[in-house]
Amino acid sequence: MPDPADSADGDDGAGAGTETRDALAERRGLGTPVYDPAEDSGLLADAAVEHAHGLTLEVGTGSGWVAERVAAEGEATRVVGSDVNPHACARARDRGVEAARADLLAPFRADAVDTVLFNPPYLPTDPDNDWDDWQETALSGGESGRELVDPFLDDLPRVLAPDGVALLVVSSLTGFVDVVAYAVERGLAAETVREESYPFETLSVLALRPRGDG
Ligand SMILES: C[S@@+](CC[C@H](N)C(=O)[O-])C[C@H]1O[C@@H](n2cnc3c(N)ncnc32)[C@H](O)[C@@H]1O
Repeated sequence: MPDPADSADGDDGAGAGTETRDALAERRGLGTPVYDPAEDSGLLADAAVEHAHGLTLEVGTGSGWVAERVAAEGEATRVVGSDVNPHACARARDRGVEAARADLLAPFRADAVDTVLFNPPYLPTDPDNDWDDWQETALSGGESGRELVDPFLDDLPRVLAPDGVALLVVSSLTGFVDVVAYAVERGLAAETVREESYPFETLSVLALRPRGDG
């Protein structure tokens, strides 16, 4: 995930802008309604090209760039994107990615998905800086950084096929050890398949698989 201070400005897409919020968005460089691919997207795409198989769902597909790459270069038989942000779904469809508006894994059938990909919003957010727009939705993981990761891991064992795998981007800012412990408690085996260090964080891609011992 890029340093938000380095991003570009634009319409927040949430329809609730005020002058103050617009000024804040401009200062933090937020405001475009869809997350542009960044280092974290590239790391996830590289891992997915290697590990994705069968029916592949990219949760929080954003621009659809990762899903498009996996469909073009990987072993997946079908790639679907989903996002809570309708602008993201439209952008992904423009790229030719089949995309559905959805909150995490809620609408997806049990035991049906061979590969789940997720580059979640994970920046720990000071509640005083919090405001409601689509870039905040793309970036903010709440105070812990894990407010989207934890519910995703709660529901993941339900949707994964028995030989399925999930590839999850985890930042050192989010608490790598905490994410692994939470996943293991939910009956998943965790293995790091990609890792890159940047000046302000280390990014990992975890491969999560049902342990089959629960
Ligand atoms: C860090 S961006 C990643 C975008 C894209 N996958 C990539 O790697 O470039 C996180 C994405 O998750 C989406 N998102 C946030 N909360 C979500 C939720 N509850 N359900 C589905 N998607 C969500 C955001 O709208 C955003 O597109």
